Amino acid sequence: MDSKILEYAKTKKMILTEDALRCLNSHNYEYVINKLYEKNKIFVNNEDIKEIIKKDEEKTTVVDLDANYEILEKYDVTNKNLSQGKVEDFHSLFLHKYEVLSKIIKTRSKTTYHTIAETQKLSRNKEVDLVGMVLDKRTTKNENLFFVVDDPTGKINIIVSKQDEDLFKEAKEVLLDNVVGFKCVVLSNNMLIAKEILFPDMPYNKKESCLKNDKYLVVLGDIHIGSKLFLEKEFMNFIDWLNKKNNEDAEIVDKIKYVVIAGDVVDGIGIYPQQYDELSIPNIFEQYKKFEDYMLMIPKHIEIFITPGNHDAVRRADPQPALTENLIPRLYKEKNIHLVGSPTYVVFDGFKTLIYHGYAMHGIYSTIKTAKMNAPDTAIKETLKRRDLMPSYGDRQIFAPIEKNFLVIEEPPDIFIGADVHHHAYSKYKDCHILNASTWQSTTKFQESFGHVPTLCKVFLFNLKTQKTFIKDFYKKEKNG
Ligand SMILES: [Fe+2]
Repeated sequence: MDSKILEYAKTKKMILTEDALRCLNSHNYEYVINKLYEKNKIFVNNEDIKEIIKKDEEKTTVVDLDANYEILEKYDVTNKNLSQGKVEDFHSLFLHKYEVLSKIIKTRSKTTYHTIAETQKLSRNKEVDLVGMVLDKRTTKNENLFFVVDDPTGKINIIVSKQDEDLFKEAKEVLLDNVVGFKCVVLSNNMLIAKEILFPDMPYNKKESCLKNDKYLVVLGDIHIGSKLFLEKEFMNFIDWLNKKNNEDAEIVDKIKYVVIAGDVVDGIGIYPQQYDELSIPNIFEQYKKFEDYMLMIPKHIEIFITPGNHDAVRRADPQPALTENLIPRLYKEKNIHLVGSPTYVVFDGFKTLIYHGYAMHGIYSTIKTAKMNAPDTAIKETLKRRDLMPSYGDRQIFAPIEKNFLVIEEPPDIFIGADVHHHAYSKYKDCHILNASTWQSTTKFQESFGHVPTLCKVFLFNLKTQKTFIKDFYKKEKNG
């Protein structure tokens, strides 16, 4: 986006300060630049932009409610035919992950990092910093932790002593295939003692909104159309609410500009044993036809972004490409409907938003004790800390062997949107807002079998001006009349 704004400003022979550029990110920049051009402005700062907006109150409202989004296609696998399934593809996938994450770690501190090959030449007791990918992890007879890590130059063993309690606790959470930084002391040319562990992690980067008026991003997911357990009345209430049918929350609804649907829009066919008996629509095309009907009822001035989930009829393996035209031909004709992959990045009024359905999080639930399915933000935080949506390759989720690792979180998001476990959650990690969608499907037998209670029909509204989140509960409304 920045380069587009700068290019446009250049055509008007205008020079922007950094503040001005940031502020224009959240507005219809062409509109504002044209206004400044009329005033013969050459050097433009933040205050000049605010003045334009202030003087033109009514028009500002229109500007703010204009769609201002960008899909960062380089991070979306849709329309990229990369996989040949060869050994080289697997190699590239891991190498890409190592390169991206090691670069993030190395820019976090000014320390000089050594490669593993260089480390092996150092003498005993020398201090060394390196970045490695965890190849193996086990507990020794003495109950210390033993890691084998590698980088493109070789592999080496690292011991974490159980005596070093804080470090030991942190090291226990390092997973296979994680890329982490180690501060070590050399014991021998093949063995190091760890003194500190560094995850790639997220920076503190508080996003300032430049919006003058309220503007809402609505988040939902896991609709599961076609299931007998699909809560159709409640979903219809949501669609009616967006259309102000009963005038409820009309002032807020007027300010909704974006809707994100984070996957599992239908229940699918053959996703799990005996699913056929639990379907009200046992035909995949009919399920999507019904989904299209609902989407076409949403007012056209709202931009809708739809990712697939593990129940949708695209490939099951991550990264998932967007739903295809043969499934939803009518939606492909709509300008306000955007079919994106999972994961994907969309920038809404300057807020970089990472959207991922979330199936790979099951690997985290099974290995990290503090991650709970009834609080999915706990798992999302672990992925943000590792800057990796699938920290351990293929753990509970399939990963297509392609040369670029789309599950690495290359850019720190301002907002993370997830779904999958049918439980809503909101919290913050560093300065990133985490929103995990609830579901429109009541409790399945499978969920009952392990005591998981989903949260139903709760829609998140994220105000892009105030960065405040609130929930509109359609389930409660239906039950309480
Ligand atoms: Fe689901």
